[in-house]
Parts: sequence; C-alpha cells; structure tokens
Amino acid sequence: MPLKVDELVNADASLISRRCWSDPAVYALEKRAIFGRSWLFLGHETQIPNAGDFVQAYMCETPIILSRGEDHKVYANVNSCRHRGLPVCRADHGNTRRFICPYHNWSYTVEGALVAIPQESALQGQPDKSALGLQRVPRVERWRGMIFGSFDESIIPLEDYLGDMRFYLDAFFLRFPQGIEFIGAPHRWLIDANWKLPVENQLGDVNHGAFLHSAIIPREAQTLIESLGHSVVTTPGHGATFRVMPEDAPWQDVAWGMEAMGSLLGGSEVQDYLREVQARAAERVGELRARMKGLTYGIYPNLSFLWSNTSFKVSHPRGPGKVEYWSWAVVPADAPAAIKKILRTNYSSFFGPGGLLEQEDAEVWAQQYLGSDIDFADQQPYFYGLGLGEEQPHPHMPGLVSVTANEFYARSFFQRWRDELKAVESDA
Ligand code: FES
Ligand SMILES: [Fe+2]
Repeated sequence: MPLKVDELVNADASLISRRCWSDPAVYALEKRAIFGRSWLFLGHETQIPNAGDFVQAYMCETPIILSRGEDHKVYANVNSCRHRGLPVCRADHGNTRRFICPYHNWSYTVEGALVAIPQESALQGQPDKSALGLQRVPRVERWRGMIFGSFDESIIPLEDYLGDMRFYLDAFFLRFPQGIEFIGAPHRWLIDANWKLPVENQLGDVNHGAFLHSAIIPREAQTLIESLGHSVVTTPGHGATFRVMPEDAPWQDVAWGMEAMGSLLGGSEVQDYLREVQARAAERVGELRARMKGLTYGIYPNLSFLWSNTSFKVSHPRGPGKVEYWSWAVVPADAPAAIKKILRTNYSSFFGPGGLLEQEDAEVWAQQYLGSDIDFADQQPYFYGLGLGEEQPHPHMPGLVSVTANEFYARSFFQRWRDELKAVESDA
C-alpha cells in the first residue's frame, strides 16, 4: 500500500494507524525525517573525563565514536573507515591514542583525523590524508554534561531544542552540587518491538503501573500517582510525569528516587544522604520543584529518563520491529561510593535488562509490535483519544499540564512525528 503520511495520524492524533509501528516504508522515512534532523543523545561527559577516553554511541543505526580529544574537546565521528567502511573502533569504551582499522590498518587519531596508511610507503603518489578523516557529526552540543549530536547542520541550538524540558530536568540535576554522573558502561539489549514503543511508555504512560506491574507496584503507590501525579508536555514530543507531594508531607515521602523496595535496601546511610539532599532542595531548585517527585521523562525523539529509578535510556531503532535498548545507571556525582552502589543496584533491580519492571514492559512492547502487524487489521487504527483537549497551561509550571490518565503526551508526540514525516514525504 502506498505511503501517505496524512493517513497514518489524524488531525488531533486521536486515531493512529498500526502501520506507524510496522511498515518498512514508514521506518525508511523516519530515518531521514526524524533521525537525520533531530538532536540525538550520545553520552555524558562523566563517561569520557580524560584525553583519549572514548565510548561507542549510535545515531539511529549509524555507529558513532564519542571521544575526548588531546585538546580536551568532545568529538563525535562516524565509526566507519574511509577506506572500505569497517568500524575502526572495536571496543565499547576505553582510552587510546589511535583507532586502527583491522582490515588494512589505516589509523586515526582519537579526534578522528587519518594519520597513517601503511600501504602508501610502497607507492609513488600519496593521498591527501587531511581529507580522509572519519566523518564528523556536524553538530555536537552539551547541556548539563549531556552530549547530543545532530546530522542537521542547521538545527536550532540544543538549549532551544530542549526548551522548557530544562525546567523539569533541573528539578533533578540541580539538586546535587556536583550534578550527576553516569556510572559504568550501559546495559544493552534487543527487544522485538518498534523504537517508539519504549519512548511512548516513558514519555507519559505511568497509568499502566497498577495493571501490568500489579505484582510489584502496590495499589497505594498507584493511588498516589493518580491523585498527585502530573503529566506535562513542554514542546510536542517532550514530556515529563511526576508527583507534586503535599507541603506537609514527611521528607521520606518527598525525597527523590529509591522507589519501592529500594528504600528498604538502602538502610540508614542512604536515608541520611537523601534527607540531606531533600533538606537543601528548596534552596537549590525552589519550593515547588523541591516537592516534585519524578516518574518518567521523554525527550524527543528517543531519549528517556526514569527519575524514579535513576536511569537514562535510548531506544535505538534496528528496523521497524527491533530495538537496541541502551540503559545507563545515573547517580549524584557527590554521593558517597556506597550510596552510588545502592542506587545502581536499585536501578538494575527494576530497570536493568533483568529488572522486575523492565521485563514486563519489554514483553508488552513486543506484543504491541505484533498487534501492529496483524493481517487484515491494519485498517483499524488505535484509539489515542483519552482526555482529548483536557490539558491546560499552569500558573507555575511551563508547558501544558494534565492528569496522568490524559494521553496528550502521546498525541503531541505523534503530531510532531507526523508533521516531520510530511516535511520530507514529497521527496520520498
Ligand atoms: S577498510 Fe579500513 S583500512 Fe581498509
Ligand atoms: Fe512499565
């Protein structure tokens, strides 16, 4: 069936075709319309603190080397040899002076410049090596240590792109004098699902908790989410969910992170640290944000932040029906080592690849993908109309705000997604 973007998502995005998740033609268009033109998360500065440090990253399916040059600047280059295309960096992370291609041993600096071609000593002519460096990601910018890249040279500055999401991200980041730290290498695993399914889940779908995760999330916790929860869309495609705890709530109820069993595992050392952080939260982020207890955030197109269990995740597409999920444990940089370890265990227990909640989520994403590819059902769009039009501006919080049962976060995402696909559809 020929692709017409207007037929995939209706005007208010309350009806969305199943083909959005399953059609190879949609996926091909997404690569150019979304991943060729957005800011994409590459990594965090704490992963590459020293000259020569590098980590691997991806921009959609394009492999990237993110590195710290000898000049201490951050570099992002496509991990593909200019000779015959092999990946020149084979390790997930490390420290080096050179990336050496295994096929014919062309070697590149950590900044991406080509410095040696072994075969040229036997030849009379010598190629211009200065024109044969690794392909540079044209735009790389940072905010609060988060490094993003874009293939679109004319994209708006990263800070403008993040816009008012910074207000909500700072509710977490600014609580800690030294900011945050990504610890260890990311967990990486494959899910038989479309890349937008994890994204949509973490952009605002916190209402499935009591149902899908009923064995783990107690009913009282879900009742609190429903009564105190807020869902916010700052710019279409970005979103945040959090509880605003009552002014008279005891500090244990307001303190960030350490959801569910984590607070039991933590013991007094964690409790003391969290109490101290919470005691200073109002002076650092203001009274309202000090009472925000985050759930999940989404940053368009494929980055999410699970504040509740302190993890950043990227949903890397690998075709319409496959995701390579990357997931980092995140901790306050100034926390004592023992607390970082406990926080990482808390993250792994719930949202690592074997996490109690993650496995249930991955299972439903795989099932939704299958549901999006059922023969003879593709004329029957999904209903995305819960809470249509109920979101409103708020006097103290930027963006549009509503209850967490309102699916406006998903409608906003798909309206932006549809419009960006339409912008490149004509030359498809
Ligand atoms: S393919 Fe890299 S040196 Fe030949
Ligand atoms: Fe979930």
